[in-house]
Amino acid sequence: MKIIHEIYDIKEQIKKWKKEGLSIGFVPTMGFLHEGHASLIKTASKENDKVIVSVFVNPLQFGPTEDYSDYPRDIDHDSKICRENGASLIFNPSPKTMYGDKNYTHVNVDTLTNKLCGFSRPGHFQGVCTVITKFFNILSPDKAYFGEKDAQQLAVIKRMVKDLNFDIEIIGCPIIREKDGLAKSSRNTYLDNKGRQAALVLNKSLKSAHNLLESGEKDLSKVKKLIKNNIEKEPLATIDYIEIVDSLTLQPVYKIEDPILVAIAVYINNKVRLIDNFTFKIKQVK
Ligand code: PAJ
Repeated sequence: MKIIHEIYDIKEQIKKWKKEGLSIGFVPTMGFLHEGHASLIKTASKENDKVIVSVFVNPLQFGPTEDYSDYPRDIDHDSKICRENGASLIFNPSPKTMYGDKNYTHVNVDTLTNKLCGFSRPGHFQGVCTVITKFFNILSPDKAYFGEKDAQQLAVIKRMVKDLNFDIEIIGCPIIREKDGLAKSSRNTYLDNKGRQAALVLNKSLKSAHNLLESGEKDLSKVKKLIKNNIEKEPLATIDYIEIVDSLTLQPVYKIEDPILVAIAVYINNKVRLIDNFTFKIKQVK
């Protein structure tokens, strides 16, 4: 798998592809790729002539007490996953290549970033939007692929693309899970055996909430309470947030018939922060 580190080199490659009339799909990642990332790459390969996967642990989106330096990295393994799933090349710049000595310009999407992960991780989405804007400008892809696992990130990027008139189609891809239901995540590697078992509470509590909604419950506070009770039964789990919001605006749900996003973030062992979610459309009663 070809790995390009410099902006000049990748721009040259893209110029050649564009001259040949080839379409370009882009899958941004922070590496340590798993089946979740692989599904994005596979979908992008089906829908585009060429697929670029970026592998870049973006310092701007980590808070000062977060795991930037500990974040797992393995470019050889990433190369293998990219090759097996049809990527054309990896873009793997250094922080210095992306930001020079200092970055003075930031991209900020307001309102959508105040809640959920944005509330718990101040500055996180500004870091994400800034790096994605830079990638979009460097790579000029036709389509870019994001996982629904990070539902808020997907909603924020869609809004940014609309607001800033990027001519790029944003494609959301479904959450890929382990056999027992845990959403795949690079951070799952931080879990010890007991933590790994405890982490199942995320998916289990969301499933029970889904069942309650399916049974016709329209009182969202009851749905939230059910999730809360479930998580609180797990001694190793601590709730960061449980939110039920409009899936597009991420604002409180005013019209019950709009699709809702049920999203949670939970600390396992007080240190590993995991997220999970589902979207749901309440059926209208005629
Ligand atoms: P990262 O956590 O590496 O995730 C890269 C992409 O893979 C994201 O769009 C994420 O939603 C998707 N993904 C991760 N786990 C998934 C799963 N289990 N199922 C489906 N998709 C999954 O998200 C980031 O990196 C960064 O914030 C980034 C967008 C690259 C900006 O730095």
